[in-house]
Amino acid sequence: MPPTQPSTEPSTEQDRAKWAAGTAAIDAYVRDGMRLGLGSGTTSHWFVRALGEAVAGGLDVVGVPTSTGTRDLALEVGVPLTTLADVERLDLTVDGADEIDREGAMIKGGGACLLWERIVADASDRMVAVVDDGKVVDVLGAFPLPVEVVPYAWESTRRSIARLLRRLGYDEPELVLRERDGEPVRTDSGNVLIDARLGAIHDPLALDGQLNWIPGVVENGLFTGIADEMVIGRADGGHEIRDVSAAPTARPATTRRGGA
Ligand code: 5RP
Repeated sequence: MPPTQPSTEPSTEQDRAKWAAGTAAIDAYVRDGMRLGLGSGTTSHWFVRALGEAVAGGLDVVGVPTSTGTRDLALEVGVPLTTLADVERLDLTVDGADEIDREGAMIKGGGACLLWERIVADASDRMVAVVDDGKVVDVLGAFPLPVEVVPYAWESTRRSIARLLRRLGYDEPELVLRERDGEPVRTDSGNVLIDARLGAIHDPLALDGQLNWIPGVVENGLFTGIADEMVIGRADGGHEIRDVSAAPTARPATTRRGGA
């Protein structure tokens, strides 16, 4: 496999750590013939760029993107694409995270792609989280938890989320509709996002397990028991790999970890 040099240079220390994680995942996990889930966000995009270089060097893989942004980048750098309509299972998904705890539970969705990311990860035999070392935390929740909701009556859905959070012990949950230029941000599925500013999430399993019961909630950004391994990149260009495959999941037996 050819060396995985970036096609553009990382511009900050954090970006270099993201580059280190994203590119390290190529040599550590990607093999000829694999069907790959391609994550979203800047760290995943370093992975996709490096993958494009490896494909140009002869690597034979096919990818399923987790966002229109990743689809566009993959096409630009020459990674062949397919869809989950045509491929039943993926060998591996490589994706980033906004926060990840030491057990591998993550907050995702800072880039508004959580629904497609969850679907692709769920269709994968293995999921590897690629993060810079600043993303690793003891307790999730400093990063606002994204919740994807259908636009219809989103205010009512937000009230239901607030009631659930209060029942779970979050006193005054601040629930903010995500906006850009004064307009609600729309996901690739046309939904809107409510960011839950919780400060600390002490029981991610309980929250992940209950949020999606609320009518109007499509998906939430707590990914518990999904990552098998995490690649933690550092600004010096090095990385560390941790096995988190034993972590528990909140989801029942229809998920891959539940052994459906
Ligand atoms: C997008 C995501 C991303 O993986 C997450 O936001 C991390 O992004 P970055 O690698 O740019 O820090 O979940 O919905």
